[in-house]
Amino acid sequence: MIYFDNSATTQIEPSVLDTYMRTSQRIFGNPSSLHLVGGQAYRLLEQSRKQVASLLNVSVNEIFFTSGGTEGDNWVIKGTAIEKAPFGKEIILSAIEHPAVSESAKQLERLGFVVKFLPVDNRGFVKVEALKNLITSQTILVSVMAINNEIGTIQPIQAISEVLEAFPKIHFHVDAVQAIGKIPITSWLTPRVDFAVFSAHKFHGPKGVGIVYSKEGKKLAPLLNGGGQERGLRNGTENVPGIVATAKALRMLQEDQAKKNAHQRNIKQFLLDSLRKFEKVTVFSEACEQKYAPHILCFSLKGVRGEVLVHAFEKKEVFISTTSACSSKKGLTPGTLQAMAVSPSIATGAVRLSLCEKNTMVEAEQFMIIFQQLYQKFSKIN
Ligand SMILES: Cc1ncc(COP(=O)(O)O)c(C=O)c1O
Repeated sequence: MIYFDNSATTQIEPSVLDTYMRTSQRIFGNPSSLHLVGGQAYRLLEQSRKQVASLLNVSVNEIFFTSGGTEGDNWVIKGTAIEKAPFGKEIILSAIEHPAVSESAKQLERLGFVVKFLPVDNRGFVKVEALKNLITSQTILVSVMAINNEIGTIQPIQAISEVLEAFPKIHFHVDAVQAIGKIPITSWLTPRVDFAVFSAHKFHGPKGVGIVYSKEGKKLAPLLNGGGQERGLRNGTENVPGIVATAKALRMLQEDQAKKNAHQRNIKQFLLDSLRKFEKVTVFSEACEQKYAPHILCFSLKGVRGEVLVHAFEKKEVFISTTSACSSKKGLTPGTLQAMAVSPSIATGAVRLSLCEKNTMVEAEQFMIIFQQLYQKFSKIN
């Protein structure tokens, strides 16, 4: 099989799974328990927090563990709203955020918050110059993702950080779920970023573990109240085996990162060059290293709905996706392409290929052979 859906999820790394299983069996205590068995789990938990903090080059007090990217995004958006409601009720999001961000904001809208959208240009990049006009004295949060999950655009976090320097009280949140390990941390974890969110299953870690970077001194109200875990800010017994395995997956992700990303870029370049030869193909992702992620390639085949193409590939044991895994089952027009004002007839034909370092050029060549067959088949039908 060929698995080109790594932005939806990745296969857990065997040695990470091994760590998960061994920790589950041996260190099963509750880190909050006072006795020895609990103490072992507590030490391992804090060791993992230290390791994650050091890999992200932040302080250990700035790392919180959650259940994944969705929880992290919900926490930052709603936790900011609860914490800062007395100071203002306006939230600014890019128009291409993941539903974990945009749906959280919509829920707040129903509670009286005002949500404003930062537009993108027709290639899917946030218009930084529009930000200044959206900010008012009521603005409490700006949220912009580092890499868009549907087409792979790298968003101008540095430029947004510069604009927000003049507004130090506004929380700045970056959803870095697709960015970690794919582009240098310094390009999206700027000193101005207050919160960043990660998800372990996107980098060969276990499902059900997320990381939130929360800058020292910045406050988020907890969404999960309970027994005081994670310094009382994310309550609930910690998933120690998952967290230990996540720390390992993060370390492995960062080994030879430049080499792994160059490998993915090569494959992406080959796919881009090959796909562009087909008249009915529109490509939404480019190769440019500064502007596009190494692993995401989105294109549309005119006259064929995205889900039809996904299933046609599935029959050949090739696994791709209709832009984002979570909206694909609902048959929605991809949000990012909509925000880019791509015509619906083309947007509904969009599919996403997303790579990891384990994919090979041979797989890409096989993909193109199958694509050619499908292209001819669909051209005849149409
Ligand atoms: C950009 C982005 N944010 C958030 C999420 C949600 O992460 P999780 O699946 O861990 O809940 C995803 C998942 O696809 C994503 O791509």
